[in-house]
Amino acid sequence: MNEDDSYSATEPGPLKNRTVILGVCGGIAAYKACDIASGLRKAGATVHAVMTPHATSFITPLTLQTLTRNEVHVHQFDEGGHWKPEHIELAQKADLILVAPATANTIAKLANGICDELLTTIIMAAQCRVMLAPAMNPHMLDHPATQFNLGVLQHRMRYEIIPPDIGEMACGDYGAGKMASVEGILATVASKLMERSNLTGKSMIITAGGTREPIDPVRFIGNRSSGKMGVAVADAAHARGADVTLISTVHVERSYPVVVVETAQEMQEAVEAEFDTCDALVMTAAVADYRPIVVSTHKIKKTESEDLVLELTKNPDILDLLGRVKRKDQVIVGFAAESEGLLSNAQQKLKRKHLDMIIGNDISVPDIGFGSDYNAVVILTAEGQRENLPRMPKRAIAEHLLDLLAARLENVQKAPV
Ligand code: CTP
Repeated sequence: MNEDDSYSATEPGPLKNRTVILGVCGGIAAYKACDIASGLRKAGATVHAVMTPHATSFITPLTLQTLTRNEVHVHQFDEGGHWKPEHIELAQKADLILVAPATANTIAKLANGICDELLTTIIMAAQCRVMLAPAMNPHMLDHPATQFNLGVLQHRMRYEIIPPDIGEMACGDYGAGKMASVEGILATVASKLMERSNLTGKSMIITAGGTREPIDPVRFIGNRSSGKMGVAVADAAHARGADVTLISTVHVERSYPVVVVETAQEMQEAVEAEFDTCDALVMTAAVADYRPIVVSTHKIKKTESEDLVLELTKNPDILDLLGRVKRKDQVIVGFAAESEGLLSNAQQKLKRKHLDMIIGNDISVPDIGFGSDYNAVVILTAEGQRENLPRMPKRAIAEHLLDLLAARLENVQKAPV
């Protein structure tokens, strides 16, 4: 295949680090998805095409595979030997999902939460921005059911609709329903993806997960942190162009560096090794405050005694130590998961640890926080601002936090030293 390559390998393009899922439905405009896939990839994005089975009647998966340079996904239950269901894995990778063309059928399914094939399932499982470029016969577009469904998607689900053009249809009818131009779609998608590109060139350390403090070769003192919030912040920062180092107690595979640690002391060492050269540190990790003074080299056996006493000693407080030495052009952010006195405890930690911001959440509220994909938080800044974010996906909280952090970095780095 002789495809024109306007971006070379050394010229990564404006959408570098962005991952787009391109959904393709069964309509004649599916052939234009080839130019969209090619345009996105040439602009630097990683593109994963997902076709509905009907779309394969119009173009072949091989065409999109060649243009995206990635495997094309069609069927819901092709697990490909991965331990994670394909739809979850793809949904988590995406910064944006674009469905072009979006048919009346897929629009109706999405508006009603029907996930009977891979594309609609991925969209339901995703937490990123979803854009739809409808393409259909003018009467189908005009039909009250389609208009109602588009309204539901736009207003209740916050999906973005790229309006179809007016023109002559493949079927010969004339009217609104022709998919927006490829150039128009590419420009809209690029502007949405670049809206958040404000961390390019910034170096960020993000910590995630709960530390484990060994007692003996079998046991440890741990906590319930899943690492999801930290990974969400790291993914979002990477997507905005930051040079991210994730220091985590949880193993995750990412294209940016992930340093896996176990204990608070290991985390401290890893964070300190990078701190001088970083612009921002986000300490999402739940760091154990204490560790056993003695770690037994053999498994501690049960004895006659009813009690076992473990002697603990304080761990270093990583944020506290770094808050004291941080430069004026660096931003540091802490988290506080509290079971009572959320505001006052978070405020105290913000001050005591010399933080720029702290994100607090109440762990007594069910269905959010530890292990969940959702949280509801309060954000406090060193200047006394306070913002409450209601229950929302951790990725959305991460995006909001990064908006604040990016603005703050810009201010502190512009200020005279
Ligand atoms: N933190 C840290 N090092 C520690 C303990 C906590 O860097 N040894 C960081 C956490 O990553 C978090 C913030 O400090 O960003 C607040 O953590 P938290 O456990 O809520 O606060 P503590 O100061 O440990 O207070 P307490 O456990 O008594 O609530």
